[in-house]
Amino acid sequence: MVNFVYLIGDKQSRECVVVDPAYDITEILQIIDKDEMELTGVLATHYHPDHVGGSMMGTRIQGVAELLNQKQVPIHINKNETKWVVRTTGLAENDLFKHEGGDKIVVGDVSVTLVHTPGHTPGSQCFLVEQLLVAGDTLFLEGCGRTDLPGGNPSELYSSLQVLASMPTQTIVCPGHQYSSLPSAKLGDVVATNHVFKPTSQQQWLEWFGH
Ligand SMILES: [Fe+2]
Repeated sequence: MVNFVYLIGDKQSRECVVVDPAYDITEILQIIDKDEMELTGVLATHYHPDHVGGSMMGTRIQGVAELLNQKQVPIHINKNETKWVVRTTGLAENDLFKHEGGDKIVVGDVSVTLVHTPGHTPGSQCFLVEQLLVAGDTLFLEGCGRTDLPGGNPSELYSSLQVLASMPTQTIVCPGHQYSSLPSAKLGDVVATNHVFKPTSQQQWLEWFGH
């Protein structure tokens, strides 16, 4: 299971945010230091432990709680993910900045738009940065996130995938996991080749994927 951790920053102001810090918090902070950047926040795509830390299948994965011990920065989540993130990470609600879809976060001169994409989880969110779409587990280059884990909803995921598919075809999809040979690809190519875009209606989607 290869998880991607993304750093989004402004080379002029030297500020950056980290998307889904997990597994090796010390190494992530060292990379930021080496780049001579200053971490100003965490963006969390969703509550699963491989993205924000917590217990998974009997092992403890490092995540936002360990990061906060080393560096006090805001943790930006979608408001619908609050109780799930609290439960998984053990953080207090006060540690979390709860957002609506459409909110923007500014990193120096770089603007990040939060796109609420429920389905994999209730408060899953993607991040749009210029032409890049950081998609979390909502959309992979091949396939999409599961809907059979707590909080998953196949109908909502269908609608969220339609929202992503309507973005400009030149948008680069940067998924939460490497479940394909390429790490990223143009949205137009993903929509053309990914089987999750084959159903032509929500009803057909639910027949194929609604379990
Ligand atoms: Fe997930």
